[in-house]
Amino acid sequence: MDVLKKHTTKDGSLSLYSLSYEEGFHDKNGALRESINKYLLPAQLEQFSNTEKIVVLDVCLGLGYNTGCILEELLQSNIKIEWHGLEIDQSPLNLALNEKIFHKIWSPKVLHFFNCLNKSGKWNDGFNEGTIHWGDARQKIYEIHDSLKFDLILLDPFSPQKCPELWSEEFISLLTGRLSVEGRLITYSTAASIRASFKRAGLKIYSIVPSIDDERKWSSGTVAMRKKLKKQSIVKNCQLKDLSTREVEHLDTRSSIPYRDPTGRGTSKEIISTREIEQSKSQLINTSSWRKRWNTAQ
Ligand SMILES: C[S@@+](CC[C@H](N)C(=O)[O-])C[C@H]1O[C@@H](n2cnc3c(N)ncnc32)[C@H](O)[C@@H]1O
Repeated sequence: MDVLKKHTTKDGSLSLYSLSYEEGFHDKNGALRESINKYLLPAQLEQFSNTEKIVVLDVCLGLGYNTGCILEELLQSNIKIEWHGLEIDQSPLNLALNEKIFHKIWSPKVLHFFNCLNKSGKWNDGFNEGTIHWGDARQKIYEIHDSLKFDLILLDPFSPQKCPELWSEEFISLLTGRLSVEGRLITYSTAASIRASFKRAGLKIYSIVPSIDDERKWSSGTVAMRKKLKKQSIVKNCQLKDLSTREVEHLDTRSSIPYRDPTGRGTSKEIISTREIEQSKSQLINTSSWRKRWNTAQ
């Protein structure tokens, strides 16, 4: 069982630190702020304004910020929602629901959603519905019928070095198979290995433009899609952009070597060590040369 430490992030929202993964759930600058900038805005929900139904998958629900932000918007529209979540541990949501500062963030409708998941794993408000599949996402994803295609996949595991099992080439390929034609797979990760796995799965990739307070970063994440994005969607509100030369070149380095988990049951140690061996034998450019080149180019 993971040991979780509560703390308040700079925007006043609650977050957790995992002692097992030795990593925080969110950016110290703000849990809520991070979800808005890296998941809600890149989803560009206005593209669904003429849609009757939207199907959402949250991979790693945690305290639920990514879904919470999306639901706050969608529940004000007439779009029907079908939601699925994958999460191995119920305690982050349970802990959050016991905290006043968490309650203050959300509307009654969204709190009702969280409470339903926490109590019964199901949500049904007479129009919208949702199910949380507690357990290892690699296995639990098979509980969702594969004919169901997702318009939004929110991918938010711990970092690839800490939780490689949810960033593997195989898991990404599985998620890709569940993405609708116009759907978006959104993640905070800018790792070359993840972006290269998206590309090998046949997806087009876009970089999430950092918000003003994150201006020093070259990217805030990745949006992957089956279809090429329409030019207006790229320009609109400047949330997404094509990969820069620096980002494209990153994909030619050894960092682009994927995490492999062919059985879907590998441990993080096994997955990391297989990748390290593959990297040591690789003919690809050393990532340090790429880093040096771009640090001097700035
Ligand atoms: C970075 S946190 C997610 C933060 C979350 N999206 C939020 O808004 O609070 C990563 C989450 O991944 C979950 N996790 C770790 N391994 C998992 C696995 N194999 N399957 C499903 N969930 C997993 C952890 O329990 C943790 O809640």
